[in-house]
Amino acid sequence: MTKIERLGVIGGGQMGGGIAEVGARAGLDVIVCEVSDEAARAGRTRLWKSLNRAVQNGKLTEAERDAAQSRLHFTTTLADLDDRNMVIEAIAEDEELKTKLFAELDKVVSDPDAILASNTSSIPIAKLAAATKRPQQVLGVHFFNPVPVLKLVELVPSLLTSEETVERAAAFATEQLGKETIRAKDRSGFVVNALLVPYLLSAIRMVEGGFATAEDVDKGMVLGCAHPMGPLRLSDLVGLDTLKAIADSMHEEYGDPNFIAPPLLRRMVEAGLKGKKSGKGFYDYS
Ligand code: 3HC
Repeated sequence: MTKIERLGVIGGGQMGGGIAEVGARAGLDVIVCEVSDEAARAGRTRLWKSLNRAVQNGKLTEAERDAAQSRLHFTTTLADLDDRNMVIEAIAEDEELKTKLFAELDKVVSDPDAILASNTSSIPIAKLAAATKRPQQVLGVHFFNPVPVLKLVELVPSLLTSEETVERAAAFATEQLGKETIRAKDRSGFVVNALLVPYLLSAIRMVEGGFATAEDVDKGMVLGCAHPMGPLRLSDLVGLDTLKAIADSMHEEYGDPNFIAPPLLRRMVEAGLKGKKSGKGFYDYS
């Protein structure tokens, strides 16, 4: 099976940046494509900070960090991804934007065997695949935040994905990136978010209804169930805008009221309170 040597990542936010980091640390040549010079600069700064933290924690030597940095390139031109063996899209959870992007990407990537993957957590892979002329090479490759720390990758073939593509993506995730994989059907939320999102929304409803404070809900789950962080802090980490977009997409898919984003979540997103990335959500990060 041919190895992935040249990886493209579209979107250099917390997910895209994390994917680019693990790719470069695994020895791949990585190009991160961003919408603007400013976004590319911000993505690069976050990535360099994360690599420096890995050096401070003794996870990387300075030489390994320098080598990873030399393998990471940034661009704002999608056409620069033409020679990639695999491209992972990690932009905002917006179906229209992602569908358009897959149609453009299909025209740009010249390797006929290239895998076109999405890190979406809730948008149907079949819709993205149908926007391309190589639907058999399109699948969901869903990472978890923080990507350098969490071991899981969900592999999501659509009805049109070939078994060879799934096997190549599985080998890439396990043998090249050192992750573990599970497979899920092309249904909104896949395995993990289908279970996690109703839990996070329930916690928000508890706070919204005045049943308990965010701090007490989180303390309850950390000390009572040994979760590494409570649901409100985790919602902040995921991003409240992302959580709302996933909930909306899952509600559209299943019609289940458990997936309805509570008004408090909607108001916070409208107010620009997006969690850790915006400096404020249920907690203050300023
Ligand atoms: N990047 C790289 N490394 C990071 C990191 C980041 N953003 N955040 C933390 N780390 C590392 C730290 O450097 C530290 O490394 P060390 O063990 O070598 O010192 C280690 O992770 C532990 O970090 P901390 O000591 O700072 O803090 P914690 O022990 O509290 O761990 C956490 C932080 C790793 C974020 C942990 O709380 C955790 O795993 N939380 C749950 C996260 C989770 O559930 N994520 C899934 C979200 S759902 C999702 O992503 C899907 C999407 O579709 C919504």
